[in-house]
Amino acid sequence: MDHENVTVTRGTRSTLPIIVAVHSTLLGQAIGGCRIAHYPHWRDGLTDALRLSAAMTDKAALAGLPHGGGKTVVALPPGRTLDAAARRDVLHDVGDVIAGLGGRYATGPDVGTGPDDMVVIAERTGHVFCRPAAAGGSGDSSEHTATGVLAALRAICADRFGSAVLSGRRFAVLGLGRVGAHVLRMLAAERAILTVADVDETRRAVAGDATWVSPEECLTAEADVLVPSALGGLLTPATVPRLRCAAVAGPANNQLDAPETAALLHERGILWAPDFVVSAGGIIHATAVELHHETTEQATTRIAGIASTLTGILESARATGTTPLAAARTAARLRLG
Ligand SMILES: NC(=O)c1ccc[n+]([C@@H]2O[C@H](COP(=O)([O-])OP(=O)(O)OC[C@H]3O[C@@H](n4cnc5c(N)ncnc54)[C@H](O)[C@@H]3O)[C@@H](O)[C@H]2O)c1
Repeated sequence: MDHENVTVTRGTRSTLPIIVAVHSTLLGQAIGGCRIAHYPHWRDGLTDALRLSAAMTDKAALAGLPHGGGKTVVALPPGRTLDAAARRDVLHDVGDVIAGLGGRYATGPDVGTGPDDMVVIAERTGHVFCRPAAAGGSGDSSEHTATGVLAALRAICADRFGSAVLSGRRFAVLGLGRVGAHVLRMLAAERAILTVADVDETRRAVAGDATWVSPEECLTAEADVLVPSALGGLLTPATVPRLRCAAVAGPANNQLDAPETAALLHERGILWAPDFVVSAGGIIHATAVELHHETTEQATTRIAGIASTLTGILESARATGTTPLAAARTAARLRLG
């Protein structure tokens, strides 16, 4: 078993399965979001928790954080909805399980939870981050995630095109949600040439002067860099042959449908920046400010470090003839000792 500790508890109030997976505390307290999502069976939620907590260990290690990886999954049976009282019960159950781990793991928002939910969990345990600023927390992490994405885009442009200047470069931003909208604003401020898309037509309101196209057109747009900013699983054996970009770097989690797809991108000469390196800005900011009481300036300096981390990974991949994914995993293993 790879994981240090996995607990599956029937919530005393909610009676729902509360799964907390602590993958590693080698570098420090394990961190990872609390996911409340539907699963055909709670064992599917367990599989998700095991996979996501292991990925968090790599993400935290490569971000230079004094933390390991963990994850909470509340597995909702199909069709089950939570009213306000039931949701509060679930969050208190989560808080009790985390409190029982005695500080080995702290949680934050993930799919199905947000900063306000962290306030409710905090009623049962102090091992929580990303509470709203008004509640003494570090608040919404999306702008900090976007700041890290910009650092990564400069690094990938420097590697691929020999210049970190973003002005005049063509980016296709797929997904204009919380992070994507910030990325778009920051790239527009750099006078980049922008093509954008979202399945939600109402997001057109934040597109500004960018060229709005369909998600399919955005995916296959002729661009210097494709910036996946929506959901995971975008890069597959079916989509990779259709890409017309030189590089891919964005915040969307789990962009590859399977690790083997990294090799397909490599064979096509498309430089892919591992998402778990690119998207670390939010977690860097939240843990620095909320768990380690650093200033925003200190956190911002750490986020800028995403550029040198990514540059090191890309150089090492080139030197060893491997994919950036393999080089990133090797770098994470080295940090873990
Ligand atoms: N919020 C953060 O700080 C953070 C941190 C790390 C990673 N991420 C990852 O970044 C991605 C975006 O996060 P977010 O917080 O902006 O989420 P969000 O839900 O605010 O935005 C996602 C956007 O993608 C759009 N979308 C969904 N499916 C699409 C499709 N097929 N084609 C085009 N657009 C589509 C949605 O309409 C939405 O506007 C996610 O994968 C998330 O896991 C976010």
